[in-house]
Amino acid sequence: MVHPDIERILLDEDTIRARVKELAGRLSSDYAGKKPVMIGILKGSIPFMADLMRSMGEDHTVDFMCLSSYSGAASTGVVRMILDLRESIQDRDVLVVEDIIDTGLTLGYLRQNLLTRQPRSLELVTLLDKPDCRKVTISPKYFGFKIPNEFVVGYGLDYNEAYRHLPYIGVLKGSAVRGS
Ligand code: IMP
Repeated sequence: MVHPDIERILLDEDTIRARVKELAGRLSSDYAGKKPVMIGILKGSIPFMADLMRSMGEDHTVDFMCLSSYSGAASTGVVRMILDLRESIQDRDVLVVEDIIDTGLTLGYLRQNLLTRQPRSLELVTLLDKPDCRKVTISPKYFGFKIPNEFVVGYGLDYNEAYRHLPYIGVLKGSAVRGS
């Protein structure tokens, strides 16, 4: 059953599952024996992180950060750190796991912040990439899907904290978007 606020499904469950498996396979081979730390950016990365972890054949650890720059469907441009890592990443191979890169402001800020902690390596893994919206140059080494400039929800992505639980990624109906 498609949620009544969804205009159309952009990526269905099977498509997402297959691509996440592919990405996990690539990461497992690129990071064999390195025991990387995967840093999930809350809250949007939760389903992606959980699926990626379970498909990774290689040992790794996980940690989380919470950043915020969004209010409704618009980026405020000001990134706030709400929750920091628990563990040091010095000399670790770090994979930052994001739901979506839009303007790149969030990851631009995060990359600078994490590099000061002297990881051995730092790469980005994003499920979705909206390359048309960039304000900061960021090109993730690992991405699931490039998508057009549309506001999407589901599989972790929200609109005012709703729709994160949907198992697919869809475009919201205009009638469901208020005040943006
Ligand atoms: P950026 O800083 O503009 O790259 O935005 C990154 C963050 O904005 C993501 O982690 C999401 O939380 C949020 N975001 C960007 N585009 C969308 C979207 O289409 N739907 C839901 N959230 C989005």
